[in-house]
Amino acid sequence: MSHPVTLGKTGWFSTDRRDNWWIEPLLVVVGLSAFGVYSTLSAVFWQSHFEYGPYLSPFYEPLLLFNWWPFSPALLILWAPLGFRATCYYYRGAYYKAFFMNPPACAVTGQEGKGYTGEGKFPFVLMNFHRFFLIAALFLNVFLWIGAIRSFWYEGSIGIGVGSVIMVINAHLLMMYSLSCHSIRHFIGGRLDCFTCTAASRTGHAGWKQTSKWNEHHKRFAWFSLVWVGLTDVYIRLVAHGIIPDLNTWSSL
Ligand code: FES
Repeated sequence: MSHPVTLGKTGWFSTDRRDNWWIEPLLVVVGLSAFGVYSTLSAVFWQSHFEYGPYLSPFYEPLLLFNWWPFSPALLILWAPLGFRATCYYYRGAYYKAFFMNPPACAVTGQEGKGYTGEGKFPFVLMNFHRFFLIAALFLNVFLWIGAIRSFWYEGSIGIGVGSVIMVINAHLLMMYSLSCHSIRHFIGGRLDCFTCTAASRTGHAGWKQTSKWNEHHKRFAWFSLVWVGLTDVYIRLVAHGIIPDLNTWSSL
């Protein structure tokens, strides 16, 4: 049975909706806040126990150590995934509703939008940099895969551990989050005026169709990859601290 939606109501959270519309923005607040706090602690303040044997936390991959850099090495790379997620089309829609509440959900009143200028003025005009963050994120995906493959190699021998499997899943999820991005879909084929005119445009069309399929699941990739990258860091830190053992085939680890 459908319920009519009445627009024009005033007052915070006024709506004619009868569904639990507040659950999704609440989960977004909890999820992003928890990840923000944990990733800040891990990347900025916990500058030890982020590696164990062949495993390196994804927050520190690639590990860039320079004498002239006095802060955490993670800060040299994390601007890229942070900027990529903060300017993501999906996350923008989610956190604009959850945090700015303008509105908190469709057909629900929230903060009054006085002076709203959309994404045409500073600071929100910076969202246009998403395509550049995408390029940086794709580079980091390559390093995450190198790290995941390297995790099968320890002290001159090939083996496998629970950490290796976790790191491969992490690299895969982050790669799929990047490959399902709206910008990559546009870059590969969406910008073309003609899909059949040349061999290059036909190839672009095929790529666009594939990225369009992945794009349908972009929200899922966004959350799974966010949660998994945090769990990967947690796992490596727990084994590095000796709190849990890493089951693996290397006798010396
Ligand atoms: Fe989400 Fe590009 S739209 S990563």
